[in-house]
Amino acid sequence: MNIAANPVVEADQTVYLKDYEKPSFLVDSINLDIQVHSDYTQVNTTLVMQRQTSGNLVLLGRDLELKSILLNGTILSESEYTLDAEQLVISNAPDHVILETKVIIHPESNTQLEGLYQAGSDLFVTQNEPEGFRKITFYPDRPDVLSVFTTRVEADKKFPVLLANGNLMEAGEVGEGRHYTIWEDPTHKPSYLFACVIGDLAVLKDSYVTSEGRNVALEIYAVEKDIPKCHIAMEALKHSMRWDEEHYGRPYDLDNYMIVATSQFNMGAMENKGLNIFNTSCVLADEEYTTDAAIMRVQSVIAHEYFHNWTGNRITCRDWFQLCLKEGLTVFRDQSFSEDLQSAAVQRIDDVAVLKAHQFPEDSGPLSHPPRPDHFVEINNFYTATVYEKGAEINRMMATLLGKEKFRKGTDEYFQRHDGQAVTVEDWVSALTVGSGIDLSVFLIWYNQPGTPKLEANGEYDAAKQTYCLSFKQSLKAHPKYPNLKAVPIPIALALFNAETGEQYTLQSEALFKNTVKDGMYLFDQNEATIEFSGITAKPVVSLLRNFSAPVNLDFNYSDEELAFLIQFETNGFNQWQATQTLLERILLQGHDANIYVQAIKNTLPDLVEKDPLLASRLFDVPTEGYLGSRIDSDYSPIVIQEQRDALIYTLARALGSFCQETYLSLDPDLQKEFSQAMGVRALKNIMLNMMARQGDIAAFELAFEQYKNTGNMSERLGALKVLVWNDAPQASDALADFYNRFKDEALSLDQWFMVQAAHPKATVESIHYLTSHPDYDLTTPNRIRAVSGGLNTHPVNTWSFGVQHFIDLAKYLDEKNPIVGSRLLQVLSRWYTLAEPQRTQVKTALEALKSQVKSKNVVETLNSMLSV
Ligand code: BES
Ligand code: ZN
Repeated sequence: MNIAANPVVEADQTVYLKDYEKPSFLVDSINLDIQVHSDYTQVNTTLVMQRQTSGNLVLLGRDLELKSILLNGTILSESEYTLDAEQLVISNAPDHVILETKVIIHPESNTQLEGLYQAGSDLFVTQNEPEGFRKITFYPDRPDVLSVFTTRVEADKKFPVLLANGNLMEAGEVGEGRHYTIWEDPTHKPSYLFACVIGDLAVLKDSYVTSEGRNVALEIYAVEKDIPKCHIAMEALKHSMRWDEEHYGRPYDLDNYMIVATSQFNMGAMENKGLNIFNTSCVLADEEYTTDAAIMRVQSVIAHEYFHNWTGNRITCRDWFQLCLKEGLTVFRDQSFSEDLQSAAVQRIDDVAVLKAHQFPEDSGPLSHPPRPDHFVEINNFYTATVYEKGAEINRMMATLLGKEKFRKGTDEYFQRHDGQAVTVEDWVSALTVGSGIDLSVFLIWYNQPGTPKLEANGEYDAAKQTYCLSFKQSLKAHPKYPNLKAVPIPIALALFNAETGEQYTLQSEALFKNTVKDGMYLFDQNEATIEFSGITAKPVVSLLRNFSAPVNLDFNYSDEELAFLIQFETNGFNQWQATQTLLERILLQGHDANIYVQAIKNTLPDLVEKDPLLASRLFDVPTEGYLGSRIDSDYSPIVIQEQRDALIYTLARALGSFCQETYLSLDPDLQKEFSQAMGVRALKNIMLNMMARQGDIAAFELAFEQYKNTGNMSERLGALKVLVWNDAPQASDALADFYNRFKDEALSLDQWFMVQAAHPKATVESIHYLTSHPDYDLTTPNRIRAVSGGLNTHPVNTWSFGVQHFIDLAKYLDEKNPIVGSRLLQVLSRWYTLAEPQRTQVKTALEALKSQVKSKNVVETLNSMLSV
C-alpha cells in the first residue's frame, strides 16, 4: 500500500500554457462515498469514464492511501498501473472504463486546509479549488473534466449536519451511532467545485423565488451563537440573486443554496456549486461585533461567490491559466453590485485604492506576470492581485467602452454560446465581440503581457482658435521575460471644465468614441496620438481617466491650483478624490503648500457632508506608508516616508484647526437613515477625532474614551480604540483591557484586538512577541495569523526591521503546515530590492538563507521569483 509523500520541488516542475492537451478520458459520472471517522476517513469512488483521445488514463492523487482498485470489475495488480506521489497512471486502458477505488485519508491531521480537513472539533469541510480534490480521491482533477456527482456522506451522529452539492435524495441511520445522507448534483461540474460538510452547526433559513418561478431554499450554517450575525449575509444573498437576474438575465438553477461558515479557511470564500464555504470573516456581520468595512465586505463576497454560479460554475475555465476568466469577470461583477449598495464613487475609490496598493507594486516587481500567465510551478501562487484586480479592470474597460446595452448583448452571447463548457479568455472576448458588434480582440493584449502602462498626457490651449489639444504617449517598462511588449488599448474618459465658471464643456471632437452614451471617451490604442477639441471659449481644466477608466499610471503636469479646482468642481467623485491624492502626494514628497488643499477641502466639505458623507470622509485619505513606499523603486527608506507622512498629518491637523472639533461635534450617525450614510458619518468622525489627537489635544483623548465606552457599534468603538492606542493615550490600556474582556469569545472581534496592537506605529519585537505568545494566538487559524502580520505590516518601517524575521519565521513554519498561507505571507517582503543599504543586503541575505530551509512548491516558487531581480 502506498502513502504519497509531500512533493518537493526537484527538477523543473513548470507547467506551460502552450503545452495544453485535452484529457484522454472524460468522466460521465462519479459516485463518492465518504465515511468520516475520528482518526481516518475512507473514500470509496466509482468513476464511469469514456476515452476521448489516445493516451494513458491519468488520475491525480496526493497523500492518498490506496486500499483497492478495480477496473471494469477486475482487481488491478500493481504491475498494471504506476503510482507516484502525484498520480496513478493506467496504460492500455479500454475505451469504456468503470473504475472503483478505495482510499484512506486523514482530514483530522490536515493542517493545509486543502482537500477535506477538520476545522475545529465540530466540523469537517472541503476546499478543492484549485487542486484539492486530488487529496480526497484519485481523479482527473482538472477543470476541463466535467461530471455529474453523487455523494454519500457518513459520520457519527454527533455531527448532525451532513451536506454535499445538489439535492438531498436520502438520509438514514447505519447503526453504531452513525448516519448518512445521499446527494445528487444534476449539473456537470469540475472537481474543484465539489464540496461536502460534516458538522455540528445551526442554520438560518430563508427562501427566494427566481424570475423563472423556481422556489429556492436558502440556508446559512454557522455555530449556534453566530446565527444572529448571519442576517446581513442572507439579505445580501437575496439581493445578489435579484441583481444577477436584472443586470445579466441570469436566474439561479438549483432548488437550494447553502452557505457554511468556518473560522479555519485560507481564503475569503469559495463558490462550490450550491454549497459555498465561507471564512467566518466574510459571512458574519453585525454592527456590535464587526466594522462597517467588514459589513460591506461580507455583502460583496456573498455577491461574488453567488455570481460565480454563472461566471465560473456553469461556464468554467478550460485550464488554470484562464483563472482570470472567472475571477476577473466575477470581481468586476461584484464591484458593480457594490456600487449599487453604497456611494458608487466611494466603491470605485476603494477598488482603485486596492489596485494601486497591491496590483501596481506587484506588476512592477519580481512577481509581475500577465493577467493570464503563460507558466507556473504552483497555481495557488497565482491567485494574485494581477489575476483578480487587473483582470477586473480589463473587463471594466471593455464594459465602459461598449456601454450598458452593448455589453449586455455581449454577455448574453457568452452565456448562450458557452453554458456548460470549460473555456478560455479568447472565447470570452470573441463572444463579447460578436454579441456587441464591436471588435474587442485588441484587448487580448492586456491579458497576455505584464506591467502597468505609463500614460503621459499634455494639454495645449489656443485662445485665438478656441481649441484645446491633448497629446498622449504610452510606454511600458522593459520586462526580461516579455521582450515584445505592445501598445494596449486605453479607454480615456475625460472632461474639460471652464476654469472661470466651473462649468463642464460639451465635448466636440472627431476622436471621441461614439458608442458610449455619456461623457467623453477616447480610445487611445497607439504609441502616440493627439486629439483636438473645438469651441473651448476659455482656458480649460482637463480631468483625465475619469472613474479610473484604465489601469495605467497617468503623468499629467497639473498645477496645484488646477487640482484644487478639480476637488471643488469635478462632478465625477472618483476624480475629485484622485485630485486630493495627487495634491497630498505633492505636499508630502515635494513640500508643496498644504493650505491650498485645506482651503479646497473646507470649500467642498459642507455640501458634500450632506450629499455623500462617505465620499467626504475619503477626501482626507492620506496615502498609506505602504503605498508611498511602493512608489519608490530604489534607495527606499521606510523611516523617512513615515516621518514625512506623520509631518503631513500634523500639518493638515494644524491647518484644519478648530474645524475638526466642530465637525466632530456636529455629526451624529444615528440621525442617518441609510446604513451607507451612517457609515460615512462614522468614518468622518473617526478621522476628525484622530486629527484632534494629532493636534496634541488632550480633550481629544477624553472624547475618544467617551466614544469608546458609549457605543454599541464596532466602527465607533474600534475607531476610538485606534486613536487611543496609536497615540499612546493614558486611557489606552484600560480600553484595550475592556475590549479584550468584552470580546474574548468573539474570534472576529478579537482579531481586531490583535490587529490594533500589532499596528502600533512604534511596535517592537517585544510587543509583537507579547501578541504571538498570547494564549489566544493560534497558528492553525489563518485569520489570527493575518491579524498580527497584517497589523505589523501597516508600518513598513516595522516590516523592514524586526518584521523581516517575523515573516521569514512564519514562512518557514507554514512551509509544511500550510504552504498556501506561508507563500502569501512571504510575499510581503517581495519589494526588498528597493530598500536602501544596508537593509537591502540584510533582507536579501535572510531570504537566501531561507532557501535551504523550505520545501513546498508554494514557498519555493515564491522565494525563487522574489530573489530573481
Ligand atoms: N474561487 C475563489 C476562492 C479560492 C481562491 C479558493 C483560491 C481557493 C484558492 C473565490 O471565488 C474568491 O475569489 N474569493 C476571494 C474573495 C472575493 C470577494 C474576491 C477570496 O477568497 O479572497
Ligand atoms: Zn472568485
